[in-house]
Amino acid sequence: MARRWLITGASRGIGAAIAAVAVGRGDSALLVARGDAVRSVADELGAHAAQVDLSAPDGAAAAVAAAQEHMGGLDVLVNNAAIHYDTWQSVLTADLDLVREALETNTLGAWRVAMAFAPLLRESSQGRLVNVSSGSGQLTGMGDGAPAYSISKAALNALTLMLADALRRDRVLVNAVCPGWVATDMGGPGGRPVSDGARGIVWAATLPDDGPTGGFFRDGRPIDW
Ligand SMILES: NC(=O)c1ccc[n+]([C@@H]2O[C@H](COP(=O)([O-])OP(=O)(O)OC[C@H]3O[C@@H](n4cnc5c(N)ncnc54)[C@H](OP(=O)(O)O)[C@@H]3O)[C@@H](O)[C@H]2O)c1
Repeated sequence: MARRWLITGASRGIGAAIAAVAVGRGDSALLVARGDAVRSVADELGAHAAQVDLSAPDGAAAAVAAAQEHMGGLDVLVNNAAIHYDTWQSVLTADLDLVREALETNTLGAWRVAMAFAPLLRESSQGRLVNVSSGSGQLTGMGDGAPAYSISKAALNALTLMLADALRRDRVLVNAVCPGWVATDMGGPGGRPVSDGARGIVWAATLPDDGPTGGFFRDGRPIDW
């Protein structure tokens, strides 16, 4: 059965690679990002685009309106957009304005989008929600580096568990996925190709009905929180 996807942060990097897989499967996809590059990426793939800032209070509502207009609903939500991999900072010298910005997009942005799309996911017979997280958000082995990013992803992981619980009875499967180190604008050179990073996210987005919920995975295998 064809699926309807919404992928945030899909104008480049891992998000664009997820979108390419979704469209390649014959599914429909709505790509969301702030800049106008998202329109050309969507045009090239034959997908839909919404130029939306998900850190803005009305961003999620605009995305819902676009999903309704272009696809008439939603089956798969991929919260992939993120900013500020602040490797130059440490916890005791952190610029808290930058931390606040990271939380606004990476955590609250995903939270707002999840709240806005929950009614559509509940209506779907194959509802899946994937929060794209990071090993930087693992409490196990948490260090003092990249504080804005790490705290925002640890909070995203907590949000994943709460959403999984809230949506369990509606049979919407909710999981967090780390794509590994991927060569993108954020990851820099040296990481693995975007298609490899996208694979584990697509896996979580297309789990069978009896698949896991409330888990944290990399490459389809559970990892520590
Ligand atoms: N790359 C890695 O090694 C790595 C490792 C672990 C986890 N991750 C995670 O994987 C995901 C994708 O990362 P990436 O490396 O592909 O990043 P990227 O290349 O920097 O792409 C980020 C995407 O998010 C969009 N975006 C940022 N802020 C937004 C906002 N407020 N509203 C809407 N869209 C927004 C960007 O487009 P605009 O700028 O046009 O808005 C862009 O499309 C992120 O969640 C990241 O934390 C990446």
